[in-house]
Amino acid sequence: MFRRLERNAPCWCGSGKKYKSCHLAFDEKIMRYERMGHIVPSRKLIKSEKDVEGIKKSAVINVAVLDEIGDKIHAGMSTQEIDDIVTSVTKKMGGIPADLGYQGFPKSVCTSINSEVCHGIPSDDIILKDGDIINVDCSTILNGYFSDSSRMYCIGDVKPEWKKLVDVTKECVEVGIKHVIPWTFLGDMGEAVHRHALDHGYSIVREIGGHGCGNEFHEDPFVSYVSKAGTEMLMVPGMVFTIEPMVNMGTDRICIDDKNGWTVYTQDGKPSAQWEVEVLVTETGCEVLCW
Ligand code: MF3
Ligand code: CO
Repeated sequence: MFRRLERNAPCWCGSGKKYKSCHLAFDEKIMRYERMGHIVPSRKLIKSEKDVEGIKKSAVINVAVLDEIGDKIHAGMSTQEIDDIVTSVTKKMGGIPADLGYQGFPKSVCTSINSEVCHGIPSDDIILKDGDIINVDCSTILNGYFSDSSRMYCIGDVKPEWKKLVDVTKECVEVGIKHVIPWTFLGDMGEAVHRHALDHGYSIVREIGGHGCGNEFHEDPFVSYVSKAGTEMLMVPGMVFTIEPMVNMGTDRICIDDKNGWTVYTQDGKPSAQWEVEVLVTETGCEVLCW
C-alpha cells in the first residue's frame, strides 16, 4: 500500500529532497491507479539512483561474460568449458556468479541446448555439436546488486528453421522493449510479445517468465508473456525487471528432468529459444541495462 508522507519530510527515495518536490506527485499518480483496482508496485520495487548505479556496474560484468562466450563458443566445446569462462571472467572483474548455489543450483551459469527450455546444467559430458542452438543465461552479483541476461548462440551450420526460431525470439524481446512504456501495464507488453511469437506459429512457455531484479536475484513482479493488455502490474519509472520469453517451435508444454530436478524441456522434443534483457523503466520508455 502506498501512503503519502508529510509534505516537508525527506522523500522516501533517498534523494535528500523534500517529499513535496520529489515523489509526492508520483505517489499520488500510483494511488490513483491503485484505487482503480490495478496492481501497482510497492516502494521497494522502485530503485534509487544508487541502486541503479550498482545494478549498472553489475550489468557491465554480465555483458562482458556473454561477449567472451560469443568469442569462444564452438562445436566440440563442453558446456563445462562455458561454465569455466563464466566463473573466471566474473571473478576477474570482481563479481560473483549469481547462479552458483542459488536454491542449490550446482553451476555458475545455465546452458540450455535445443529442446532444453532453460536451467540446463553445464557438464564435461555435454559437447556442443554443429547445428546446435544454445542459450547461455548468466547472472552476476556485484556489491550486492544483481544483473541477469541471456543470449542464444548458433553453433556452426544451423537449420534455417531453427535459426528463424532464434531470430524471432530475439525480435520478441525487441517488441517487449518497445512496449515498456511508463504508466502502462506489464500485460500490454506481455501480450505484444506473445502476439509476435504467435504470428510466426510459435508458442510461449506459460509457467516460467521474467522477474523484478536488482537488489535480489528474483523480485516481484512475475513477468508473463501470455498476459493480457490492461492487466498485471503497472510499469512505473524506477522499476527494473527482465524480459525473457521462452519461445517454443511446437507445444508450450514443458517438463522437468526428474534426475537433476532442474533442466526444463519441451514436452514434444521440439526446439526452444530464449533471449533475456534486464531493463530500467524510465520517464519515456526503458533503458536496457544488460543483454
Ligand atoms: N538466470 C535465470 C533467470 O533468468 C535463473 C537461473 S536460476 C538457476 O531468471 F538457479 F538455475 F541458476
Ligand atoms: Co531472469
